[in-house]
Amino acid sequence: MMRQSGVRCRSLDIKSEDLDMKKIGILTGGADCPGLNAVIRAVVYKGLQEGYVITGIKNGWQGLIDNDTRILDTRAVSGILDRGGTILGTSRVDPSQSPEQIEKIAENYKRNGMDAVIAVGGEVTLATALDLFNRDILNVVGIPKSIDNALSGTDYAFGFDTAVQVATELIDRLHTTAESHHRIMVIEVMGHYTGWIAVEAGLAGGADVILIPEIKINIEKVCEALRSRHRRGKSFSIIVVSEGAEFDAHSGIPEGYEKRRFGSIGEKLAKLIENITGYEARVSVLGHIQRGGAPTAFDRILGTRFGVKAVEMVKEGKFGKMASYQNNRIKYCDIAEAVKQRKKVEMDLFDIARVFCAE
Ligand code: F6P
Repeated sequence: MMRQSGVRCRSLDIKSEDLDMKKIGILTGGADCPGLNAVIRAVVYKGLQEGYVITGIKNGWQGLIDNDTRILDTRAVSGILDRGGTILGTSRVDPSQSPEQIEKIAENYKRNGMDAVIAVGGEVTLATALDLFNRDILNVVGIPKSIDNALSGTDYAFGFDTAVQVATELIDRLHTTAESHHRIMVIEVMGHYTGWIAVEAGLAGGADVILIPEIKINIEKVCEALRSRHRRGKSFSIIVVSEGAEFDAHSGIPEGYEKRRFGSIGEKLAKLIENITGYEARVSVLGHIQRGGAPTAFDRILGTRFGVKAVEMVKEGKFGKMASYQNNRIKYCDIAEAVKQRKKVEMDLFDIARVFCAE
C-alpha cells in the first residue's frame, strides 16, 4: 500500500528546496530506449513511498548543467509505463571533459538540495556518473539501459529485449519477400560494437547467416554458405549483420573502408555478394525503429525492478554502484565493473547459432 506523501498532492511546480525531505534526482542519458519511462515511474513510486522528493532532470547531464529540473509526483508519471522514449528527454552530452560543465553540475546538484542522482544510461552516461562520484561531486546510483546489451555486470540491460523483439518481427516480414523473389536479404541491425541484437534476433528469426563484430566477416565463406543453400534448392537467404561487423583482411575491402560510420556495412555486403555470386541481394537497415515504440513486458518489468532497487540503494547509501540483473535476481555491482569493458557476445550462445547458420 502506498504511503500518502504530501508531495503527491501538490502542484508540479513545487520547489524541492521548500521541503525538508531527502531528495533524489533522476536523469536519462544517451540513446533513448523502450523501458525508460517504466524506470522513471518506478523511481517516483518507490521514492515517494520511502519519503523522498523526486526531481526529474531534463535531457541527461545537460539538465544538471542548465538547472533544468522539475519535481515528479505520481501524476507526472501516470500513463507512461507502456510508452517508449523518455518523458525527461535525453542527450549525449558528456561533461566529463569540461571543468566548466562539471562546476555547473556541482552547483546545481547543491542548489536543488539533492542527496543522490539515479543515472539511467549506457556506457558513456554511467562512466560520467562514476567520474562525478569519484570526484566527490555527487552521490550516484546507476541503472543499465542499452538496446545493445553491452554493459558488463548485468545479464541484461532493459531495452534489449524490445529491440530483439522488433528486429525479429521485421526479419519475419522480410523473409516472405526473400522467399517469394528468390533474393538474398541483408538485414542490418543495431548493436554498436557488439552483436547481441544480431545473434538473438537472427536466431529467433531463423537467419541463414549471422555476422557480428566479435567475428570478422570472411566474404568467401558467406558466399559459399549462400551457394550451398542454392545447391540444396533454397533460392533465398536471410543474412543478419550487426552494424559494427567488419570484414577480415582477406575480403578485398579497400583500405580505410573500416573507418566508415555505422549504417553502411549492409550495403557493402550486398554489393559484394551480388558481384561474387550473381544472386540478387537487397538491404534493409532497421535503424532507429529498433529503439522506438512500446517496451515488451520483460523490459517494463525489468525497468520497474531496476527503478525500485535503485531507490533502495540510495536509501542504503550504496553509491557508485549500479542495479543489475544476475541469474533472474536484481542485485547490484560497481559501476566501475559495468563500464570497464564491453560485454561481448558469449561464444556458447554463438555456438547455438552455428547449428543453424553460417558466419
Ligand atoms: O547505443 C544504442 C544505439 O542505438 C546503437 O545501437 C547505435 O549505434 C547508436 O545508438 C545510434 O545512436 P544515434 O541515435 O545517436 O545515432
